[in-house]
Amino acid sequence: MKKGLFISFEGGDACGKSTQVNLVKKFFEENFNSDDYVFIREPGGTPLAEKIRDLILNYTEDKPLPMTELLLFCAARSQITQNVILPALNSGKIVIADRFYDSTIAYQGEARGIMSKNDIISLTRTIIGDLKPDLTFYLKISAQEAFKRKKPNEVLDNIESAGLEFHKAVERGYDFIADVEKERFCVIDATKTPEQIFNIIKEKISQKISENDKKTR
Ligand code: TMP
Repeated sequence: MKKGLFISFEGGDACGKSTQVNLVKKFFEENFNSDDYVFIREPGGTPLAEKIRDLILNYTEDKPLPMTELLLFCAARSQITQNVILPALNSGKIVIADRFYDSTIAYQGEARGIMSKNDIISLTRTIIGDLKPDLTFYLKISAQEAFKRKKPNEVLDNIESAGLEFHKAVERGYDFIADVEKERFCVIDATKTPEQIFNIIKEKISQKISENDKKTR
């Protein structure tokens, strides 16, 4: 049976991830049958998870505390994993995720600092079992550089507004995971042009799909 493939995109805010996910989406629309792949985003991707996303990012009346925030991300992940990701992978599809649990290790683990990175991983395992992306693109940008990309009057959500030190810690968190998870992490310098970045991504995805096809032939 054809084995599914799980690809995720990660990086700090303003790293250019959404641009790349959109380019990859276009590439899939032009080259694959729409039954063969699913694009998702985290938090979100199911009606309930989208509501949770809105609470985490935009609810300001009673702003989520760090622990509440962590648990809301986990709740949203539980929902999309059981309802969308696992069924798609089990039927041999390619799942492309705009963020997954590496974001929680970097943002809630390293940056919010409410739980150690290892405890976040244990919590994640309790929620989603041993599910792990096969390939993760990390668009690496320094927090200082990312801050320069922000427009002067941009309205920032609860996480984007967390300040420079927080975003420096996010970067440290990602660097840590990239070091530990060298096999699945593809680190890309996010200061390259969007075209240069997309070419690297396209090549790596094509290679991974062909390896996966050989394995399951
Ligand atoms: P996005 O802007 O890339 O869609 O991501 C939403 C925000 O949520 C972004 O600031 C990163 C943050 N986030 C976490 O803090 N922890 C998580 O586990 C996830 C998935 C996202």
